[in-house]
Amino acid sequence: MRIDIVTIFPEFFDVLDISLLGKARQTGIIDLGVHDLRDHAHDRHRTVDDTPYGGGAGMVMKPEPWGEALDGILEGGPGDPGDPGDPGDPLVIFPSPAGDVFTQAMARELANEQHLVFGCGRYEGIDQRVFDDTAVRARVRLVSIGDYVLNGGEVATMAMIEAIGRLIPGVVGNPESLVQESHEDGLLEYPSYTKPAEWRGRAVPPVLLSGNHGAIAAWRREQQLERTARVRPDLLA
Ligand code: ADE
Repeated sequence: MRIDIVTIFPEFFDVLDISLLGKARQTGIIDLGVHDLRDHAHDRHRTVDDTPYGGGAGMVMKPEPWGEALDGILEGGPGDPGDPGDPGDPLVIFPSPAGDVFTQAMARELANEQHLVFGCGRYEGIDQRVFDDTAVRARVRLVSIGDYVLNGGEVATMAMIEAIGRLIPGVVGNPESLVQESHEDGLLEYPSYTKPAEWRGRAVPPVLLSGNHGAIAAWRREQQLERTARVRPDLLA
């Protein structure tokens, strides 16, 4: 999968060099490009924002640097520029508290894409014409990682890339481990234990030491249901 990120803080994404995603980049499973939006601002101060038309607090990101940055990324891609909405087009995601809420199901869907582009906004947002102009050449989605407000799209992009990246075949060593996690079957995960069998007077639930695989599976399912009902009753509904 090709992933491009446009941001005014490219160094923020240095952490993608490490851990499982770093390895996926080394092996070529993920091909990552991080682009500094300010490289596309051509005044002396490399300005990327300005005051909002109509007044109001805060600053809005100017369209010209975004247009130029996205032109460079989308040019030469697999999509046909004359046919917006083509499933072969890159998918451009703008993290935004006003977007569709990111879920495990969305992560699974996005893990099948060939080319994702993340546009990280700052300040009060990006000039609306950037979304409209991009939608002519690519599919565009606004995506929120939850009902709270961040200072910009960088943290949201990191969270989405980690959730999506680990679902790409070959990124996580044992694919079986992806199946048993919270949210994969609509429930929260069961509690896990390892050695020693007793620690600080706390024993591992005896069923896990029984060797009875049926009983262990039943206990784990029961734990999932109990935990989900207690912590996230909305998921059971
Ligand atoms: N930018 C600011 N807040 C955000 C959120 N909750 N999700 C995605 N992007 C954001």
